[in-house]
Amino acid sequence: MAVHIVDHPLVRHKLSLLREAATPCGTFRAIASEIGVLLAYEATRDLETEPYEGRGWAGPVQLERISGKKLTIVPILRAGVGLMNGVISLMPGAKVSVIGLARDEETLQPVEYCVKLAKDIEHRRAILLDPMLATGGSLAAAAAILKRAGCRDIKSLNLVCAPEGIARMEREHPDVDIYTAAVDERLNEQGYILPGLGDAGDRIFGTR
Ligand code: PRP
Ligand code: URA
Repeated sequence: MAVHIVDHPLVRHKLSLLREAATPCGTFRAIASEIGVLLAYEATRDLETEPYEGRGWAGPVQLERISGKKLTIVPILRAGVGLMNGVISLMPGAKVSVIGLARDEETLQPVEYCVKLAKDIEHRRAILLDPMLATGGSLAAAAAILKRAGCRDIKSLNLVCAPEGIARMEREHPDVDIYTAAVDERLNEQGYILPGLGDAGDRIFGTR
């Protein structure tokens, strides 16, 4: 499993704004979406293209277009929605599949409440979206749901990861590559990432 840390200066700057406790909801939402674009840009570097001949201003010209497997974007509800608009702006034709998981605050286990996947998901690359990879329970469950539906090409975009979550994904889903803005220090006793940015869902939806 590869963990790609996208540490471009713009990403580091934007992530720092998300880490600030005083950043208001609207700003947080906008910046999370912008980092989503930059992570998606890296995660799609290996998309295939095919040549074609187009009509340019000076006559026929050799051009390229994306070919090969189609995509589905898979936000993990709720917080994954915060990355979705940014990612869709790069790939407007992608289908959106959703997986609703809520982490039980006592056990930290993910509880599934909604799954609606693209019908032909077995023929698509799935790009999972979730700002936080903490214990890894939610991302591992989401990857298992996609695999049960026949999907074999999965990547994950996460704003911040904990080493514990990465270790779990390495054990359970070594075939899923991760694209992230940062790997932080550790989890606290409540399963929150330190230094992290707090509860991503609450900050994106304004429910704090
Ligand atoms: C948060 C976050 C991840 C999960 C990470 O969601 O968005 O989905 O926790 O934790 P884990 O790696 O330990 O599973 P939460 O369950 O709080 O739901 P929300 O998105 O509705 O806020
Ligand atoms: N979920 C969050 O939203 N933040 C964390 O730090 C861990 C899980």
